[in-house]
Amino acid sequence: MHLARTASIDWKAIREDFPILDQKVHGHPLVYFDNAATTQKPRAVIEALRDYYEHDNANVHRGLHELSSRATEAYEGARARAAQYIGAASADEIVFTRGTTESINLVAQSWGGTFVREGGVILLTEMEHHSNLVPWQLLAERTGARLRFVPVRDDGTLALEQLEQLLTPEVKLFAFTHVSNSLGTINPVAELCATARAVGAVTLVDAAQSAGHLPLNVQEIGCDFLAFSGHKMCGPTGSGTLYGRAEVLDAMPPWHGGGEMIVSVTLEKSSFKKPPHRFEAGTPNIAGAIGLAAAIDYIEGIGRAAIFEHDSKLTRYAQERFADLPGMRVLGPTGERGAILGFVMDAAHPHDLTTFADQRGLALRGGHHCNQPLMRRFGLPGTTRASFYFYNTTDEIDRMIEILRDAALFFA
Ligand SMILES: Cc1ncc(COP(=O)(O)O)c(C=O)c1O
Repeated sequence: MHLARTASIDWKAIREDFPILDQKVHGHPLVYFDNAATTQKPRAVIEALRDYYEHDNANVHRGLHELSSRATEAYEGARARAAQYIGAASADEIVFTRGTTESINLVAQSWGGTFVREGGVILLTEMEHHSNLVPWQLLAERTGARLRFVPVRDDGTLALEQLEQLLTPEVKLFAFTHVSNSLGTINPVAELCATARAVGAVTLVDAAQSAGHLPLNVQEIGCDFLAFSGHKMCGPTGSGTLYGRAEVLDAMPPWHGGGEMIVSVTLEKSSFKKPPHRFEAGTPNIAGAIGLAAAIDYIEGIGRAAIFEHDSKLTRYAQERFADLPGMRVLGPTGERGAILGFVMDAAHPHDLTTFADQRGLALRGGHHCNQPLMRRFGLPGTTRASFYFYNTTDEIDRMIEILRDAALFFA
């Protein structure tokens, strides 16, 4: 495996682990810069899924037969692996979900439905993805709670000087993203959690854009909940987890009812298992969890610190190259940031620019990126976004700059 410091890691060999990258799109070599939407999968993950279906496929926690034991062992092993990956104290603090969106909905419905009342406040930030906004709007509508927001400064960072004033005792929960999917901003999550804890607020970290990109440890962060998606970190779609601190999960009622989550059932009433099984009704995404564990193994084989360093280099390089382009503005902080560059070209709408790039084999994303309030904050209909991962190269960034320069001439 590729176990070394960044300089001695063979990034070219790593790239070859991703068969999908070796193809032409519209007659041009594919440059895949839509990693914030979903990342590509290495052979190790594809093979783990195939191996499971070819050899061990059975339902978990049910059958008293060999295949079911193997499937259960692999599924629960994946839970332990996910716990270890984010530094959870126990595997019981990991609930498998379909991803970040489902994890946040679980918290909003189960925890929110129990602990949030009329007059309570949910504190969010202006940079939240719709999946860390809409579930809280639905909760507020149901309960009469209010939403409050930490503003975003012009440079794409949070207006932290306002935090003390916003974090009043009515705040029941403070939910925020670790890395902004539009701006690349890395929020000081441990500091935010400590400030929230001081007023007794529960915290939720949306780690969709950070879990596969930088080292993180829930006990060091000091959060009550943390959500991430497998597909944004080399794992399969439909896989993900909700971390919940044991004491907080224990106090939460089920949200979905069905098989697997009960202790006993009569026609009138049921009693429920302890977390995490209380929150996993029905047959789970067994292959997804196994694939996610394989993705974790793969990422840890490289090392998250090395991935962060590599991706930061790519991002800095791209920022420097953007400076050569006329009529182009990059959003977000100028200092340390995630591997995400949202930009605006004066002459072209993001959708037109993204289509132009696609015709040349370059996969970007154009639009509001599920950040409509944030786009409104910056007075923009949307942006074009390039997002990098460890298999990307500076040559690919050069190719992007070439295409954007052509676009500037084309749309002028
Ligand atoms: C910051 C952030 N939060 C949440 C999500 C939602 O993730 P998923 O669609 O995997 O549930 C995304 C996806 O783009 C995201 O970037």
